[in-house]
Amino acid sequence: MKKKVLFECIECGYQSPKYYGKCPQCQNWNSMVELSSGDIEPGQPSPERQAVSLSHIEETQTKRTLTGLQEFDRVLGGGIVPDSVILIGGEPGVGKSTLLLEVSGILTRTGKKILYFSGEESAHQIKIRAKRLKIDSSDIFLLTMGTLSDLKKAANELKPHFIIIDSIQTLHPDKHSLISGSISSMKWATSEIIEFAKKNGITVFVIGHITKDGSLAGPKTLEHMVDVVLYFQGEFKSDLRILRAEKNRFGPVNELGIFQMTGQGLTSIKDPSQLFLQHHSVAESGISIFPAMNGLRPILIEIQALVTESPFSGNPRRISVGFDNYRMSMLISVIEKKLKLPFFKSDVFLNVTGGMSIRETAGDLSVLSALISSYKNITVPQDIVIIGEVGLTGEVRSVGFIDNRIKEAIRQGFKQFILPASQSSLTHIKNISITSVANIFDFYSYIGKSR
Ligand SMILES: Nc1ncnc2c1ncn2[C@@H]1O[C@H](COP(=O)(O)OP(=O)(O)O)[C@@H](O)[C@H]1O
Ligand SMILES: [Mg+2]
Repeated sequence: MKKKVLFECIECGYQSPKYYGKCPQCQNWNSMVELSSGDIEPGQPSPERQAVSLSHIEETQTKRTLTGLQEFDRVLGGGIVPDSVILIGGEPGVGKSTLLLEVSGILTRTGKKILYFSGEESAHQIKIRAKRLKIDSSDIFLLTMGTLSDLKKAANELKPHFIIIDSIQTLHPDKHSLISGSISSMKWATSEIIEFAKKNGITVFVIGHITKDGSLAGPKTLEHMVDVVLYFQGEFKSDLRILRAEKNRFGPVNELGIFQMTGQGLTSIKDPSQLFLQHHSVAESGISIFPAMNGLRPILIEIQALVTESPFSGNPRRISVGFDNYRMSMLISVIEKKLKLPFFKSDVFLNVTGGMSIRETAGDLSVLSALISSYKNITVPQDIVIIGEVGLTGEVRSVGFIDNRIKEAIRQGFKQFILPASQSSLTHIKNISITSVANIFDFYSYIGKSR
């Protein structure tokens, strides 16, 4: 049989039968490695695999396990679903090992047994962390370094309820043809682990490192295989940590868990809106408040815009952090065309504070308000909450979850709202002042009056 040679880029996973010095996909140099050189055998059907009629499958109640770490349970959609495989990605140092050691500690209190694989730290280092987190349990078993088969062997002996793999990049796949840490090695190890977990009724947490821009290789290529994908983020200058559900087969996506990193570990932050709202002593221009939906929970966030005269005539800067750059450009074009405000001469910077991001169109009108407010140097009163999607003709369109958003704003002490005209009469919430706007002309004339 003919031998097959395959090369793979360890940065992006591009595969080719031909070797390239520079990867044609991600343009990295010297990143191609030889993958396999074995005979290709035709697949054999396995005797135990048979199709079963749906009505013959026994119904079992899925009982989720609550960890008691409130924000963690929330992101998972209300606790851990048994036998699931959960991928947790994040930059090195963000706190993935801390989070999972803490979760392990809590789980052992309810009689669960944990097998913790660490390919990066020695048992001694983990012990130091555990001591700091005040975890001391005879039901957490450490396996440091080792291969996939070492892990399976340990699991067969210990019969744990949970396995933690810290990290998938450091779990040696056992297959000689695979290079540890390469994309195909991670994929192979993950698919083996998934099969093992489902067969033995074990829940697995898989940690994966991601690079700063989050786009390169690694765990992204595993997303489709696992049940739940969580990303752990945080600025290193602050102790705030955000856990986001990117994919969840058993719960809402985009759900956020917000933690504070302390010397004793991670603690859940109960009232995140409080955290992201800055009380400005003087009214400033370029600021607006928007209740963003994150999964099922609204969180009030502050949007800031800075519009200044551009030194680069004809080619002004458009920079947005936490809001889609293209969407911001679209809103600027709508403002220019409909309100005749010549933004083309201005540099525009937009920032969603606290490292948060707006991933929904319901934030359009609030962003537009911050932009106009900064451009015209008008202060929009900061006790107003602005909600609405903006269309290309300048119409203000209705949004989802309007009552939830309003309720959260009221809870934080807000009483004034600017809402899409199509929705303002529908809300049943009493004792609030509503300005309804059908389009951005209505909006502009309102904030023009309020200066
Ligand atoms: N003694 C300490 N006091 C407070 N925070 C600490 C201490 N030691 C470590 N940390 C925090 O833990 C982080 C490292 O967490 P870790 O779980 O090892 O990250 P990861 O596994 O994602 O690489 C550090 O960036 C720091 O924020
Ligand atoms: Mg770690």
